[in-house]
Amino acid sequence: MFRCIFGEGNIYKNLLDGRWVDSQSGKRDQIFSPTDGSLVGEVPATTPEEADPFVKGAAQAQRSWAKVPASERADVLHKAADILEREKEVIAGVLVREIAKNKKSSLSEVTRTADLIHFTAEEGKRLTGESLSSGAFPGFHETKLSISNRVPLGVVLAIAPFNYPINLAASKIAPALVAGNSVVFKPPTQGAISALYFSRVLCEAGLPAGVLNVITGQGRAIGDYLVGHPLVNMVAFTGSSKVGKHIAGLTGMKPLLLELGGKDAAIVLEDADLSLAAQHIVAGAFSFSGQRCTAVKRILVMESVADKLIGHLMPLVQAMTVGRPEDNADITPLISEEAGDFVQELIDDAVKKGAKLLIGNKRNKNLIYPALFDKVTVDMRIAWEEPFGPVLPILRVKTIDEAVKITNDSEYGLQASVFSKNIDTVFGIAARLDVGTIQVNGKTERGPDHFPFVGVKSSGMGTQGIRYSIEAMTRTKAVVLNFH
Ligand code: NAP
Ligand code: G3H
Repeated sequence: MFRCIFGEGNIYKNLLDGRWVDSQSGKRDQIFSPTDGSLVGEVPATTPEEADPFVKGAAQAQRSWAKVPASERADVLHKAADILEREKEVIAGVLVREIAKNKKSSLSEVTRTADLIHFTAEEGKRLTGESLSSGAFPGFHETKLSISNRVPLGVVLAIAPFNYPINLAASKIAPALVAGNSVVFKPPTQGAISALYFSRVLCEAGLPAGVLNVITGQGRAIGDYLVGHPLVNMVAFTGSSKVGKHIAGLTGMKPLLLELGGKDAAIVLEDADLSLAAQHIVAGAFSFSGQRCTAVKRILVMESVADKLIGHLMPLVQAMTVGRPEDNADITPLISEEAGDFVQELIDDAVKKGAKLLIGNKRNKNLIYPALFDKVTVDMRIAWEEPFGPVLPILRVKTIDEAVKITNDSEYGLQASVFSKNIDTVFGIAARLDVGTIQVNGKTERGPDHFPFVGVKSSGMGTQGIRYSIEAMTRTKAVVLNFH
C-alpha cells in the first residue's frame, strides 16, 4: 500500500525501482502488458481491513489540510505539475507498457495533466463566495446579511478508469486537494502502476502525510467498501455505466460525480465540408484504438452524401498504422483479450445482420484492426453498444429528424458532433439533442480540461471540468449577520 509519508519505509525507492509496494497481507495483483503479456509489476490487493486506517487517516489529515492557506495548497500542486513535466518521459513509458497507449498519446496525457494541475492550482485560489442582503426579498428590511463561502466536503474518493489512469485521476485529485479535501484514490488495476508513479509525484511535491491515500486492489473486491465507508464524504468516479450505476446505488446521500460511457454520434449533413468531417471523425473514432468515452462511435450521414463521405474516410482509415505502442502505431492492442472478444462479438453481429464491411474484421488476439461498416441498421448491436475498440458504424439517414431520433434513442448522452456549414440548422439540431455537449464541425472530445464536461442519461451525473469539479467538491457555508 502506498501512502504519503516521507521517510516511512522506502516506498518511493521501491516505485522508482519498478518494484511492488507490499501490503500487510502480502496479497498482490499482477499487471501484465496488453502488448506482449510481460509482467509490468505488482500492486497490493488491499483488503478492507487494511484500507480502513487509511480512510480514517484521510479524515484526520483533512482537518489540518483545510487550514493550510489556499495559496500554499496551490503551491504544492504547481510543484507536482513541474515534477510531472520533468519526469514525463519516464511516466509516459509506464503508460505505454501498462495500458498500451502509444508513445505520443502517453506523453500528451502526462503533459496535459501537468497543465491541468497548474490551471487547477490557479483556479483554486479564485474560489469565492458571495454576500446577499435581505432587503431584496419581499417583506424584508435591510436587517440581515448572508455571507457565504465554499468549504471542502471532507474526504473525496477518486476512482479512475484504465484509459486515462493519470489524467482522469488528476482531474479528480487536483480539484479536491486545492479546495482543502483529502483524497482516497482507487486507481484502475490495469493502470495502477502509472497511477502510483503519478501519486508519488504529488507526495514528493510536499503533500502532508495522510492527505492523499492510494488504495490499490480490484474494484470488485475493495470498491464497495470504499464507496460505502462512512468517512468518505464524496465519490468522483469515471468508468463504465454499469459500475457507475452500481456505485450510485450505494452512496445514499453522498454527493456524486459520475462520468460514464458514451455512444457519441457524428451527424453529417448534406452541406458539410466532407473532407474536414472525415478527418475529425477518423481522429475522434480511432485515437487510443477507440478506447475513449468520447470517441465517435457512430456516423449518421445523409444518404445523398454518404458515398462521398466514405470516399474521404477510407484513405484515412487505410493509412492508420497497426502495431505496438512503443513504435507509435495508431492502433495498438486493446486493454485485454476480453475487450477484444467483445468488439469481435459486435463485428460478427453486424456482419451476420448484413452490414457492409468496408475495411477491417481482422484480429490478432487483442489487437483489433480498424473496422468501418456501411449500411448499419438500427437492429444491429453496433448501432447502440459502446465497443471501446476501433470499429465505426455508418448509418445512412434520410432526414435530420431521423438523425436526431437515432442519436436520442441511445441509452447514453455524452456528446455529439454536427457537421454542416449552416449555423442556424446546427443550433436547431443542438437544441434537440439529449447530450451533454454538441461539437460543431469538430470531433467529440472532453478537452480542453477547463471546459464543462457533462453526461446525461447513462453517461453520467454532475459536471466535470476544472472550476466545475472544484465547485462539486465544495459546498456553500453561510453566516447570517442580523442587524438590530
Ligand atoms: P470500469 O470497469 O467501470 O472501471 C472503472 C474504475 O472503477 C476502475 O478503477 C475499477 O477498478 C473501478 N471499479 C470496478 N468495480 C468497482 C466497484 N464495485 N466499486 C468501485 N469501483 C469499482 O471502467 P473501465 O473499463 O476502466 O473504463 C471503460 C469505461 O469507462 C467505458 O465504459 C468508458 O466509456 C468509461 N469512461 C468514461 C469516461 C467519461 O469521462 N465519461 C472516461 C473514461 C472512461 P478495477 O480496475 O480494479 O476493476
Ligand atoms: O474516456 C473518456 C475521457 O474522458 C475522454 O477524454 O476526449 O480527452 O479523450 P478525451
